[in-house]
Amino acid sequence: MFANIKIPPGIRLFNKIADFRAWRRQLLLDRQTLGYVPTMGALHKGHLALVTSAKDKCDHVALTIFVNPAQFSPTEDLATYPRTLQNDLDQLAALGPGITSAVLVPSVKEMYPGGIELDVSKQKGTFVEVKGLSHQLEGITRPHFFRGVATVVSKFLNIVQPEQVFFGQKDVQQCAVIKAMIRDLHFPVKMNICPTVREKDGLAMSSRNAYLTPDQRKYALVVHKALSTIESLYHSGQHHAPSLIDAGAALIEQARQQVQKENLDWEVKLDYLSINSPEDLSTISGTIDQQEGCIVSTAVFVGKTRLIDNLLLDVSDSAQKI
Ligand code: PAF
Repeated sequence: MFANIKIPPGIRLFNKIADFRAWRRQLLLDRQTLGYVPTMGALHKGHLALVTSAKDKCDHVALTIFVNPAQFSPTEDLATYPRTLQNDLDQLAALGPGITSAVLVPSVKEMYPGGIELDVSKQKGTFVEVKGLSHQLEGITRPHFFRGVATVVSKFLNIVQPEQVFFGQKDVQQCAVIKAMIRDLHFPVKMNICPTVREKDGLAMSSRNAYLTPDQRKYALVVHKALSTIESLYHSGQHHAPSLIDAGAALIEQARQQVQKENLDWEVKLDYLSINSPEDLSTISGTIDQQEGCIVSTAVFVGKTRLIDNLLLDVSDSAQKI
């Protein structure tokens, strides 16, 4: 099934759900715990940090690698999303022996037995929707994204049956959606939210960073710069959400103008910059309550690449709040 793939020693690579389940069942019989890291592959240091955290807390670690069609709209990059299985396995192996026990790479056909259409109006079958948390922020530009994510993560939690699951804070709204889904559907799993891993210059690690040209990579830094500026202003006493947003948005606007001035044939474009409650993701449009804290999140197009990032202010235990 995995033609031309060299499976590193010590890692079990599964294509069939039933084979993965047989392996997982034996762990249960042996009273070994399993930590799970869901991914779409194109692994980077952010994913590897999740794997390491999982290994710190569980006897075994399993990943899934699955580019989930249900979370792409017909106009998004499903066909071109990077698929780098050999490199992914090599990176996992380089973490050291015994860190990753198993990787499941199922087919689309097995994950969606009734087929999957990208056009939601044509879809058939079972889907999971987390109402109240899926349609603001990312959900405005990507209205069906979280339905696709919640659906595939619930399928995988059923298949993998881990004791603990690990997500990155970079996808903060995804964390909120999955946390609510785990609670509402009574999945017997502990959710862990791990800090965003960044490049040395602050850019949040993302599989989509690979799309950036060197020029765009330079301008991509404005995303982190805008958030850090908001963070400094907040800590120096500015707690009025619209003023903080104005300060961050001004930096993104400056970058937009600079790209125009340089006559580059692409744009920097702010999609959103928002300050929201960590409890229910509602927009904070006045003064931020320091007892409650807030999530500052943004999405910025740099060329065709849409970069997202966020920071938490006075949210002491992210796993509890979001
Ligand atoms: O964060 C991701 O990579 C994906 O949304 C996930 C959780 C693996 C579901 O496809």
